[in-house]
Amino acid sequence: MSDTSDTHQQASLDWDKQGQPLSSQFADVYFSNENGLEETRYVFLANNQLPERFAALSAGEQLVIGETGFGTGLNFLCAWQLFEQQAAPGTRLHFVSVEKYPLSRADLQRALALWPQLAPQAEPLLAQYVALHPGFQRLVFAGGRIILTLLIGDALELFGQLDAKVDAWFLDGFAPAKNPDMWTPELFAELARLSKASTTLGTFTSTGYVRRRLNEAGFKMKRVPGLGKKWEVLKGGFIGTPETADKPWFARPPQPAGARHALVIGAGLAGCATASSLVQRGWRVTLLERHAAIAQEASGNPQGVLYLKLSAHGTTLSRLIVSGFGHTRRLLEQLHRGTDWDNCGVLQLAFDAKEAQRQAQLAAVFPADLLCALDKTAAEEQAGITLPAGGLFYPQAGWVHPPALCALLSQQPAIQLQLHQEALELRREGDSWQAWNGEQLLASAAVVVLASAAEIKRFPAAAQLPLKRIRGQISRLPATAASRALSTVLCAEGYIAPARLDEHTLGASFDFNSDDLTPNSADHAGNLQLLEEISPELACALNATTLAPEQLQGRAAFRCTSPDYLPIVGPLADATAFAEAYAVLGKDARQVPDAPCPWLDGLYINSGHGSRGLITAPLSGELIAAWLNDEPLPVARDVAQACHPNRFALRALIRNKT
Ligand SMILES: Cc1cc2nc3c(=O)[nH]c(=O)nc-3n(C[C@H](O)[C@H](O)[C@H](O)COP(=O)(O)OP(=O)(O)OC[C@H]3O[C@@H](n4cnc5c(N)ncnc54)[C@H](O)[C@@H]3O)c2cc1C
Ligand SMILES: C[S@@+](CC[C@H](N)C(=O)[O-])C[C@H]1O[C@@H](n2cnc3c(N)ncnc32)[C@H](O)[C@@H]1O
Repeated sequence: MSDTSDTHQQASLDWDKQGQPLSSQFADVYFSNENGLEETRYVFLANNQLPERFAALSAGEQLVIGETGFGTGLNFLCAWQLFEQQAAPGTRLHFVSVEKYPLSRADLQRALALWPQLAPQAEPLLAQYVALHPGFQRLVFAGGRIILTLLIGDALELFGQLDAKVDAWFLDGFAPAKNPDMWTPELFAELARLSKASTTLGTFTSTGYVRRRLNEAGFKMKRVPGLGKKWEVLKGGFIGTPETADKPWFARPPQPAGARHALVIGAGLAGCATASSLVQRGWRVTLLERHAAIAQEASGNPQGVLYLKLSAHGTTLSRLIVSGFGHTRRLLEQLHRGTDWDNCGVLQLAFDAKEAQRQAQLAAVFPADLLCALDKTAAEEQAGITLPAGGLFYPQAGWVHPPALCALLSQQPAIQLQLHQEALELRREGDSWQAWNGEQLLASAAVVVLASAAEIKRFPAAAQLPLKRIRGQISRLPATAASRALSTVLCAEGYIAPARLDEHTLGASFDFNSDDLTPNSADHAGNLQLLEEISPELACALNATTLAPEQLQGRAAFRCTSPDYLPIVGPLADATAFAEAYAVLGKDARQVPDAPCPWLDGLYINSGHGSRGLITAPLSGELIAAWLNDEPLPVARDVAQACHPNRFALRALIRNKT
């Protein structure tokens, strides 16, 4: 990965006599010793005219703030508090901030205790301040009214990956003299790229160098009086030429006109998450499900694992997994630990030399609170049982009961769940999409999100997407006195979780050819073999050697997988018109034709979550909602493009190069 372990440090703090935090890395204060709150309200809120701008927002509108240096979150919390005081119902605040050295939760709590007047905002922030690992992290507050996209890492690197338009900048980040590496023309060029005609900027510094370089980047900055000891500060706005859109096939489709009503087809994790993210932005959602209840197919297992298969090379998939893990992990805080999920950790065993080497590489580049290597003795202590090897331990991971997560996401007043309704056909009628079953019109809306796993291929608009079904079967093993000692999830080729309701889930088989979802004994036998490889002692504790596979209980479902193992998330284009519009790429892959992408207006997909839907599907709901609301994306631009439905049509055109 391009991040090095150096950038994965936490903030190192000293506390002065008044109990205020100081950075020992930068030898500077997080906020003014005399009047931190007043300074924030003046330099960042007032100098960006936020009281007036918040008050001017109409229902359905949002304002996007960008900040360098999240620190203690004081600026964020003040902006949130002001937004609640000034903005009308139905409006939203989106705050994007970057932080290279995040405070530990304990330090954050101590720092925020200085501001009792911000407690209503600080408490929810502290509650969600978990699993904030490098890269893009999404935090959702106040039922979706306040959204924080926290970029953990270096400002220049991560703003370079951001897909957003910012309305107001808070340029914070320690004094330029103490932190010259951040206040660079390169960073200011990124801020300009992310700005639009009306964007404003406030900063506490009045340094001439900063003013001149910001002006060169396209801002017009002036010195205005400061507060207290500070004579002057800078305020201004963007007067440069806003950067135009991306390559047309990855550009944002036009916003759907009319009522904010969406039809989501399929009530598994992907559909429930999409519905949730949309209603949190004030949409009404009709959620269609063909079964009698939600979560009856892949999302219906008793236990699934928060399994992070990462790469040491910062691939798009690996970065998506770290972001998705954080988001799911924060959602799980709302569920009941023990029956709905458990953060008992996940231990990936180093089952052979190659895996041990891969794990060592990962341990060298990721922070220890995400993963750490354990030798055999430490691993056994963690697991509570004898193991064949050590492994990589993910202390914040664990198992989830996926139906509970689906229920949390879908049981909301603005989601109308229609059960026993199978959409067999989609028709375009005027500005809306209609879902039909034979002669029965099931529902219609301007926006449709296909979240029906591999079944999306039945709709001609999505039939060209290369999704495959892979049958998987889990086995349910009654807990025994000895197996109850298992205290973390164990994974090798298969996985076994500590008991939920006194039953362990053992998984899972992979079958590319079978269409039959009746559990079979061959797959149970295969699962028992996987258990034997994980731990012969545990296999023995669970009587695996004496259990007859045909007597085991289990469950089978289809995973839905794409050829590059990334999910397929985003807007759909008309396949034929796409091939015609961009045919020139077959001759020269570097061309970027002007032709706008022939979008199928209002048609989106959230599918292809393979074996890791618990980690990727909830964040993908946020990604769909970001497109439909013209918001900052919750993942890096290249990650969003790697998940984009158009990637396959694009690759096909380029491969045909003559
Ligand atoms: C055996 C097995 C083990 C797994 N283990 C893990 C694990 O440990 N960790 C992990 O993260 N992931 C795991 N997964 C993967 C995870 O379960 C999936 O990635 C995730 O559930 C996918 O969610 P989904 O909503 O895309 O699909 P699904 O849950 O399959 O939901 C699709 C929904 O669409 C409905 N539908 C389909 N067609 C229509 C239609 N025409 N009209 C109306 N409704 C329709 C279906 O009835 C279904 O409810 C496992 C999967 C399997 C099969
Ligand atoms: C003055 S503090 C920010 C105060 C913060 N806005 C608040 O409300 O508490 C500056 C922050 O910028 C962070 N920072 C410094 N250089 C950075 C960089 N290059 N990229 C990202 N963050 C950086 C520091 O770690 C520190 O947390």
